[in-house]
Amino acid sequence: MIVDVIVDLQYGDCGKGKVTHYLCKTGKYTHVVRYNGGCNAGHTIYHYGKKFVTHHIPAGVFFGVKSIIGPGCVVNPEKFFEEIATLEAGGLQNVRNLVKIAKNTHVITQEHIESDGGDTKIGTTKRGNGPAYAAKYARTGVRADEIPELEPFLVDFYDEMHQEGTIALFEGAQGFGLDIDWGDYPYVTSSHCTVAGAMLNGIPPKAIRNVWGVAKAYETYVGAKDFGGNDPIFDKICEIGQEYGATTGRKRQINWMQWDLLEKATKINGLTHMVVNKMDVMREIDCWKLFSGENLHEFATEAQFQEYFYQKLSETGISIYFSGDKAKI
Ligand code: IMP
Ligand code: MG
Repeated sequence: MIVDVIVDLQYGDCGKGKVTHYLCKTGKYTHVVRYNGGCNAGHTIYHYGKKFVTHHIPAGVFFGVKSIIGPGCVVNPEKFFEEIATLEAGGLQNVRNLVKIAKNTHVITQEHIESDGGDTKIGTTKRGNGPAYAAKYARTGVRADEIPELEPFLVDFYDEMHQEGTIALFEGAQGFGLDIDWGDYPYVTSSHCTVAGAMLNGIPPKAIRNVWGVAKAYETYVGAKDFGGNDPIFDKICEIGQEYGATTGRKRQINWMQWDLLEKATKINGLTHMVVNKMDVMREIDCWKLFSGENLHEFATEAQFQEYFYQKLSETGISIYFSGDKAKI
């Protein structure tokens, strides 16, 4: 078994969907798997010029690859069927045959959605994620194999993965800064957003080949805490970068990149590849800044900004890609 993992190095919304789509296009994968989170996620994907937003369903469906919602996720059956219908309406073929759910995946119930709905403290997406994971750990949860309508989609995840010739792409949701253990608690999501989250789905460490870390050239965050960004240029970034939540439509708070967070996420995830997205937005404002600790570094040119990454990561062997394109790396 070979597994490549995609992780987000910041607060979600860094463009994992684009990287998944790009890697799937190579046609080298037998499976694409979502390994954490639920329909709180929103992945924006441009498929041959057409915009799609996915929530649960992994991007393998765009290329006819079996796409599985892994046991580390939580799934809302109603939203799952809505998402299938949206993908079909967008012209994708064979969606119902390609999409699968691990039978031990936990389900988001109406009760979970209602108890998440009143949250204002953390600023959750109100999709019932936290309560579904809370129920899972309280041993009061409901698994996918208890829901008759999901029956045609269920698979045994062990059998799917542990077979001859599996080459799987594991697509994460949310990001390092929202990780239940490594994020800024309590302003976090309820799942594991590191490469370890992928392994929790029954993947042995030695199966992991490449770890793709996805970042944005600046940071965005949606949720209740004050993200501290007070430069007026952030309004401009918000407009140019269209920084509105793909799931909730909320305006994302913006700040300059924190190098320390990126470095920590890079080390904890053991990256082999890094993609820094939204370089086009930075080019348009032509202002190149990032925080290292409390220090705000300003670079005169894009080349100098990029050089900072190359120098800081020079010993790591990580391949770095700077991307300024919605549809490709
Ligand atoms: P929850 O995951 O809905 O419980 O929300 C917890 C925190 O994670 C909130 O700050 C959400 O805005 C944030 N969050 C959850 N999913 C995503 C995502 O896919 N992108 C960005 N932020 C997210
Ligand atoms: Mg998103």
